[in-house]
Amino acid sequence: MSSDEEQTSLLNNRAGYHGQSHWNRLKKSTMIIRAFCVFSVLIALAGGTWIIQRCLNTNKEIDFSSLKDYCKHIPSIQSDEYTGRHKRLAKTLEAENVDALIMEGGASMVYYTNIEWSLSERAFMVILRVNSSEPTGIHTTIVTPAFEATRAQESLKHANLPSTIQPDIVEWLEHKSPFESVKSLFQNDKPESVIIEQNARLFIYEGVSNALKDTRVVMAPQSIRKLRMVKSSAELDIMRCANTVTDLAIRAVRPHIQVGMTEFDIQKIMSRALEVAGLTNTWVLALVDENAALPHGSSSTKKITKESTVLIDTGGEILKYQSDVTRTFFMGERGTNQTIEDAWYLVRRAQENVLNRTGAGMSCAELDLTARHVIESGGFGRYFTHRLGHGIGLEGHEEPYLNQGNTDQFVTPGMTFSVEPGIYVTHQFGIRLEDVVVVGQDGKLELLTSGLAQNPWTL
Ligand SMILES: *[C@@H]1O[C@H](CO)[C@@H](O)[C@H](O)[C@H]1NC(C)=O
Ligand SMILES: *[C@@H]1O[C@H](CO)[C@@H](O)[C@H](O)[C@H]1NC(C)=O
Ligand SMILES: *[C@@H]1O[C@H](CO)[C@@H](O)[C@H](O)[C@H]1NC(C)=O
Repeated sequence: MSSDEEQTSLLNNRAGYHGQSHWNRLKKSTMIIRAFCVFSVLIALAGGTWIIQRCLNTNKEIDFSSLKDYCKHIPSIQSDEYTGRHKRLAKTLEAENVDALIMEGGASMVYYTNIEWSLSERAFMVILRVNSSEPTGIHTTIVTPAFEATRAQESLKHANLPSTIQPDIVEWLEHKSPFESVKSLFQNDKPESVIIEQNARLFIYEGVSNALKDTRVVMAPQSIRKLRMVKSSAELDIMRCANTVTDLAIRAVRPHIQVGMTEFDIQKIMSRALEVAGLTNTWVLALVDENAALPHGSSSTKKITKESTVLIDTGGEILKYQSDVTRTFFMGERGTNQTIEDAWYLVRRAQENVLNRTGAGMSCAELDLTARHVIESGGFGRYFTHRLGHGIGLEGHEEPYLNQGNTDQFVTPGMTFSVEPGIYVTHQFGIRLEDVVVVGQDGKLELLTSGLAQNPWTL
């Protein structure tokens, strides 16, 4: 074969090959197009379904507009109120024969100076010192790390204190001791006795004690601590609104809690309701069935069944004051489990007994026992494993603490605390109902929520 022939036959072969495969290729591309069409339709369907689902979900997003910015109309603490706080402190310090109260960042600092300062290893202190030349009877000094002085100035400006309170700012350098600054404040007039606020850390106590040799340095006694326990009407307005809307938010969430949801799902819905209501720093404890037997259990993926008992303990902050409300409810109908139902009504009756029969002049221990008596007589005494309640205000848990041992703390008008009896049967179930109350001027307990739960189904 010549090379030309070779060429031709190769070409022919190629042409032949082309000719034979044409039909096959056509078939193949049709299949590809078909597959592509089917694939496109599937994608479109999936996309469409996704879009429709998104739309439905958006429509299903729960409407909490009735709670929207519920406490917007409540005024914050006015600057004049700080004058009264300083005057009451001056009187109490004098009565205790004490020269000064020293504190770190925290609720007491907010109470006396409206300054919020997070704790760190560097001491930042406010010193409230008796001084009769001051209009309030108190001279205020801020001791700050030198490099934080600008931030301290800004916090002070932002605090918007009245003209009666004009704090000095004293700076300490990184290589010096903050307690030498404290010492220098007192160098001309050595104090006999100073008080350290109850939540201050040990190095503050030791630092002050070592710097002020021969001065008695003690923790704040009850008379000082009580100043914060008794709330003013402005504080009560904020707390009433914060706790009422927290209660209303649980009631608004209740109809949307369904079988199959997890504790985390409840948390999500509840947080949203509180945020719509305008609360900040919100928190939610959602516990289902035996998980609720741990009073401070943590939420999980545990699911709600049609016979479940659900406990929601939740709260947040309005204008720096805290709310804290607990509701326990049943997914099953009346009669699903008589033991658990009886326990719920017993806890409810314990709350009512405290509201009906206790008030100003009684000890914290007596309040606890008034609730405990009901639960004991119902046969669940050993399952009421914690105290009746705790004070609440700028802190979620503060004094007074309502426990059987607190026999020398008496409740007085203006004190705010939770009334939260519970029954916790390990590995089985837990019931708690919690409402915040104030001791009224008439000495009776008054609810700061929208009302006790009426029943374990609709609340
Ligand atoms: C008492 O207050 C007056 C008025 O602010 C001030 O001049 C004086 O230094 C204060 N005394 C002490 C010991 O802080
Ligand atoms: C509390 O007082 C109300 C109103 O007087 C009354 O209906 C209720 O039975 C009382 N509850 C208890 C537990 O004493
Ligand atoms: C009611 O619940 C408790 C605790 O979970 C359980 O031990 C008991 O068997 C239940 N009773 C009925 C009738 O289901």
